[in-house]
Amino acid sequence: MYYQKLKKFPKNFLWGAASAAYQIEGAFDEDGKGPSIWDTFSKIPGKTFNGTNGDIAVDHYHRYKEDVRLMSEMGLKAYRFSIAWSRIIPDGDGEINSEGLKFYDNLINELIRYHIEPIVTLYHWDIPQALQDKYNGWESRKNIQAFKKYCQTVFKAFGDRVKYWVTFNEQNVFTAMGYRWASHPPNISDVKRMYAANHIVNLANAEAINLFHQMVPQGKIGPSFGYGPTYPITADPNDVLAADNADDFNNNWWLDVYCRGTYPALVMNHLKDLGIAPEVTLDDKKLLKSAKPDFLGINYYHGGTFQQNQIEHPDKTSQHEKDFSKTDPYLMQPKDTQAQTPEMAMFNNVENPYLHKTQWGWEIDSVGFRITLRRVYEKYQLPIMVTENGLGAHDKLEGNNEVNDQYRIDYLQTHITEMQRALTDGVDLLGYCAWSFTDLLSWLNGYKKRYGFVYVDRDDNGPKNLTRIPKKSFYWYRDFIQKNS
Ligand code: BG6
Repeated sequence: MYYQKLKKFPKNFLWGAASAAYQIEGAFDEDGKGPSIWDTFSKIPGKTFNGTNGDIAVDHYHRYKEDVRLMSEMGLKAYRFSIAWSRIIPDGDGEINSEGLKFYDNLINELIRYHIEPIVTLYHWDIPQALQDKYNGWESRKNIQAFKKYCQTVFKAFGDRVKYWVTFNEQNVFTAMGYRWASHPPNISDVKRMYAANHIVNLANAEAINLFHQMVPQGKIGPSFGYGPTYPITADPNDVLAADNADDFNNNWWLDVYCRGTYPALVMNHLKDLGIAPEVTLDDKKLLKSAKPDFLGINYYHGGTFQQNQIEHPDKTSQHEKDFSKTDPYLMQPKDTQAQTPEMAMFNNVENPYLHKTQWGWEIDSVGFRITLRRVYEKYQLPIMVTENGLGAHDKLEGNNEVNDQYRIDYLQTHITEMQRALTDGVDLLGYCAWSFTDLLSWLNGYKKRYGFVYVDRDDNGPKNLTRIPKKSFYWYRDFIQKNS
């Protein structure tokens, strides 16, 4: 290791934490809120861990004041949260629900009162169910107009106080989980439809950015992408090529569109050959080119390691099938992986022998975080906001009401150090939002997979008393933010 004198984090660096509406709010049908696709999907037997859902979640809707007070006690400079579209416009594109607006208005004012910068995500996976029913959701261009109406409503309501906005959270994840693996709503397993829906989301993202720049010229907006750096398993040029292919399919397919307004040729040509490419019109191309994000949100958990594919065609051996299943970012084990990944024959996802894993089998790779930030910044030259990074673990509440999550502190500490190295390398960084502030619902893993700085006394069987208990990591982050180092 060479010695490197680390640059200090800027004074105005946004040290934050993050959440998403469905994972924390609860109050799923209160004050005029309409159902979202997650309200419906989580009730389908067998879809989530032990049938857990966000009906009550951690009851942030009723306890937001207590939560913001805790944020202030921790010294948070920023808080990233998402707005539930179905609170604002219960049926997606009809009447506006003033009570829904009021909730977020109060939350934003409360944050500002404590000098905490709100960072608002427009879409964290919970489209109103009515739009899914009426238009087939993201498979229809009509949905773009509905999204624009929703964006216009919230930009108008909060654009005077909210400077930072995130358009879509992890488009790569929600399209794959929702349309390839049927493990998220809308519960579909069809790659052609997945690519079509993904294109529609790209158009909606571009429309939202352009609208925002007209309506809130002093603000900043960008998507949050779930990025994983790709590594070749060996120096064999064929493995290097496989890792490059994976980079194109897993990262550039989205990032090039966001930042350059074009799809990478390799992936597009391959999809056309297979007859599963999205339909892109001339007007679409113009729109995608016209929208420029002000920053890129990066969610970082882990990357992937790749080797050349040993066989030419993806329809041969069962060993091959097994490997394909690992290409999913969340390590799902789908039934018929060949039918679901016909385009991914150009790389094979393998284990990285150098990395340890979390209790849920996610690789822990802090150096990969530095690699991520450098690669993304060098390629796209946009400021980066880290919008998620954190460790899911089984935390234990001790008898004395303490949670000794030293492992989380170690995780965050090593990742933040690598981020500081990236800053020293020259990456333009706006802030860092750890995932998550309080414990919350893990979409498919229930309440036992905890990420928060604040323990919430509830489990998979029920809400218990929902008491908030700061963990050891809470005090560690508080001291860290105070010293800014
Ligand atoms: C991110 C999502 O992909 O990962 C979050 O944006 C999610 O919403 C987080 O909770 C952790 O995932 P999981 O599956 O461990 O809850």
